[in-house]
Amino acid sequence: MSERTFVMVKPDGVGRKLVGECIRRFEQRGLKLVGLKIQVLGEDIAQKHYEEHKEKPFFGELVGFITSGPTVQMVWEGPDAVAQVRKMNGATNCLKADIGTIRGDYGLSMQNNIIHASDSPETAQREIALYFEANDLLDYTMLDEHWLQ
Ligand code: PPS
Repeated sequence: MSERTFVMVKPDGVGRKLVGECIRRFEQRGLKLVGLKIQVLGEDIAQKHYEEHKEKPFFGELVGFITSGPTVQMVWEGPDAVAQVRKMNGATNCLKADIGTIRGDYGLSMQNNIIHASDSPETAQREIALYFEANDLLDYTMLDEHWLQ
């Protein structure tokens, strides 16, 4: 069943010029890019994004990091997109992420872990609504779509 997931390339990923590499991997897998933005996040939206972690000791650092430079927001669509993108990103701690995942191939840090993705379809809905209006997201057909069902 096709679903949408929210993905954000974090300031370290943008600073290290890994945006194209992240997009390439999701495109090659067969996922469809339906929304895209670049922005430096304000404190308010960053706190809302990470509100489930507000009691954690690293919350302040996390908000400071995610607001520290440009970030890229994306919505990707495809079969089982939420779980598949999480798998492609790898474990949160890059040191524990499998080689072959984005974090395992490009990171060595817990905080500077390049990319964020929604952890469930419910979180995806909440995160997509935080960054995108309904008419920011496109419905279109890819030429190779019939091979990817
Ligand atoms: S937890 O504690 O298990 O709920 O945390 P986790 O789901 O693994 O991580 C949630 C996000 O917090 C970031 N994180 C940290 N940032 C800075 N310092 C420390 N110690 C730290 N631990 C976790 C982590 O990168 C996750 O960010 P996202 O954007 O959700 O991947």
